[in-house]
Amino acid sequence: MKIEICDLKDLNLYVTKFVKELRDELIIYKLNGEIFVKSSICPHFGGEIYFCKNKKKLRCKWHDWTYCPKTGKCETYNIKTNVRNYQVSTYPKDLKNYDFFIENNKLYLNNDFT
Ligand code: FES
Repeated sequence: MKIEICDLKDLNLYVTKFVKELRDELIIYKLNGEIFVKSSICPHFGGEIYFCKNKKKLRCKWHDWTYCPKTGKCETYNIKTNVRNYQVSTYPKDLKNYDFFIENNKLYLNNDFT
């Protein structure tokens, strides 16, 4: 299945698009001329991710966690806590990455959703 995500001419800063086949909202952006497509739903609590061009980071609008724009890895926290007498750390999930291809100046997802 071929799913059109956006027109390359619309990719000035970033665009977001909900893809019902994935049940995910995607963020599409350029960094140093390279295009990236990731989930725009924050793994922390579901906030909206945006691309901060000044700091060249993906940031969450809700609690301002930041993510690496290349890898999607969370750069803000591991969460340290105590459970009874044990010290426990949890690590946030990375942002989900999506493969894509470009055809006739349009960007399409590169996955098989059937
Ligand atoms: S929901 Fe994104 S940082 Fe909390």
